[in-house]
Amino acid sequence: MRQSHQLPLVGLLLFSLIPSQLCQSCVVSEKDYSHLRLLISAMDNLEQIRGIYGASILLSQRLARIQNPSLEEELSQRIQDDMNRRDMSNLTSGQLALIILAFGACKNPDVRFIHDHHLVEKLGEKFKEEIKNMDTGAVAVLALTCVKRSISNGKIKAAIKDSDTIQKYIESLVHKIQSEKNGGLFGNAYSTGEAMQALFVASDYYQNESNCQETLDAVFNNISQGVFRLPIAAAQILPALLGKTYLDVNKTATCPQSPVNITDEPVPVVPTLSPENISVIYCVKINEISNCINITVKNGSVFLDVMKAAQEKNSTIYGFTMTETPWGPYITSVQGIWANNNERTYWELLSNNKSLSQGAGNYVVKNGEHLEIRWATY
Ligand SMILES: *[C@@H]1O[C@H](CO)[C@@H](O)[C@H](O)[C@H]1NC(C)=O
Ligand SMILES: *[C@@H]1O[C@H](CO)[C@@H](O)[C@H](O)[C@H]1NC(C)=O
Ligand SMILES: *[C@@H]1O[C@H](CO)[C@@H](O)[C@H](O)[C@H]1NC(C)=O
Ligand SMILES: *[C@@H]1O[C@H](CO)[C@@H](O)[C@H](O)[C@H]1NC(C)=O
Ligand SMILES: *[C@@H]1O[C@H](CO)[C@@H](O)[C@H](O)[C@H]1NC(C)=O
Ligand SMILES: *[C@@H]1O[C@H](CO)[C@@H](O)[C@H](O)[C@H]1NC(C)=O
Ligand SMILES: *[C@@H]1O[C@H](CO)[C@@H](O)[C@H](O)[C@H]1NC(C)=O
Ligand SMILES: *[C@@H]1O[C@H](CO)[C@@H](O)[C@H](O)[C@H]1NC(C)=O
Ligand SMILES: *[C@@H]1O[C@H](CO)[C@@H](O)[C@H](O)[C@H]1NC(C)=O
Ligand SMILES: *[C@@H]1O[C@H](CO)[C@@H](O)[C@H](O)[C@H]1NC(C)=O
Repeated sequence: MRQSHQLPLVGLLLFSLIPSQLCQSCVVSEKDYSHLRLLISAMDNLEQIRGIYGASILLSQRLARIQNPSLEEELSQRIQDDMNRRDMSNLTSGQLALIILAFGACKNPDVRFIHDHHLVEKLGEKFKEEIKNMDTGAVAVLALTCVKRSISNGKIKAAIKDSDTIQKYIESLVHKIQSEKNGGLFGNAYSTGEAMQALFVASDYYQNESNCQETLDAVFNNISQGVFRLPIAAAQILPALLGKTYLDVNKTATCPQSPVNITDEPVPVVPTLSPENISVIYCVKINEISNCINITVKNGSVFLDVMKAAQEKNSTIYGFTMTETPWGPYITSVQGIWANNNERTYWELLSNNKSLSQGAGNYVVKNGEHLEIRWATY
């Protein structure tokens, strides 16, 4: 098993040499491009994109072939500044791989950065460290598929037994992804983009037109609910909706023009809301004890606005702390009780007793809703 574990590494490093072949993709048709324009304008929101996390947005733009030179230049600069400032040893292989893919996608002036900073070598070292406790998932399917193709076209030499092992891994991972099917989504809205990519390259799932339509309907529905309005969330889903995967990164091709006409009427990302106030019930629940309060906020407010309003009313009961992440604010404590990774505890957000997949910063609350933040374990 040891030897085959080294293979995904080689595969990832060869990403730029791999021809793109899809089993079957599931591409948004032109009449539905308005959904894509919402995603594209969400990715333009520079205030919400920090440092190296811009790599997801840059990569997504390049895969979707969106030309927006001023945004690209700004993102690229932020990534490079952040990389120069940071101790690179604290990046994960996933973060490094995204940066390499973003900088290596089609002929562009940033590709030198990869070479000058020995990023590929660093990725190799990371990957070896992390492979031992690597989680399974969609990105692993992409990496393994990449290796499989490199073996079959002779770019990597491998024993037949290794090829078989890789094929078995791919099959079991694809099975796992499909077992997480949830309506038209896989896992939650945010894991669906990468799951779609994995299914494109390693299964015939989307050969069935009704499977494709089911996924697209669910994603469109979520787009219209504002689920993808953070740049990083939009970036995660956009390539798959255009039938693209990370394996389509090609550093020798010139950057072509997107099929989606982004000069069309700009669409506001946040639907215009009537200015009326709405009221919700907000509870903090710790070990079966709930404290609830009736809160009035402006229509269009998010969960976090409700928490802030409650905190102003009574900071002993509703006081909280949070930290900024590229996925928006993450609640770290409520009533002075801290989420703790070692004890696998966190603050779970719920609406009408159902756990939310969106964060406090982007879940838009509705009139009469029963909101709760619960001290929970995972
Ligand atoms: C990359 O793009 C170039 C130019 O379009 C093309 O000739 C080449 O075949 C592509 N390489 C792969 C591996 O797809
Ligand atoms: C990584 O390094 C940067 C800069 O040295 C630091 O700000 C950041 O907190 C570190 N991240 C982690 C996860 O250690
Ligand atoms: C496609 O999938 C749907 C639902 O999963 C199923 O009912 C239908 O029979 C499938 N069609 C084909 C041609 O396999
Ligand atoms: C996202 O789509 C799924 C499947 O259609 C649906 O169950 C869920 O409610 C949607 N989420 C939002 C916030 O609209
Ligand atoms: C894109 O949309 C604009 C405005 O609607 C139009 O003028 C332009 O011709 C369109 N471009 C393409 C390539 O369709
Ligand atoms: C809040 O705004 C939405 C979207 O404009 C609207 O559908 C809804 O009726 C409004 N709710 C209230 C209570 O005004
Ligand atoms: C909405 O709530 C704010 C703050 O409580 C209040 O100042 C404002 O008058 C309210 N607006 C309406 C239309 O009720
Ligand atoms: C919360 O307060 C609003 C405004 O005072 C009121 O209309 C609403 O009925 C209250 N909700 C509950 C569940 O008490
Ligand atoms: C906050 O709520 C607690 C429990 O209901 C109460 O004892 C305390 O006086 C309240 N504090 C303020 C500032 O209202
Ligand atoms: C939430 O679920 C619990 C049991 O899981 C139940 O006791 C409670 O009444 C439910 N609350 C609401 C608002 O539905």
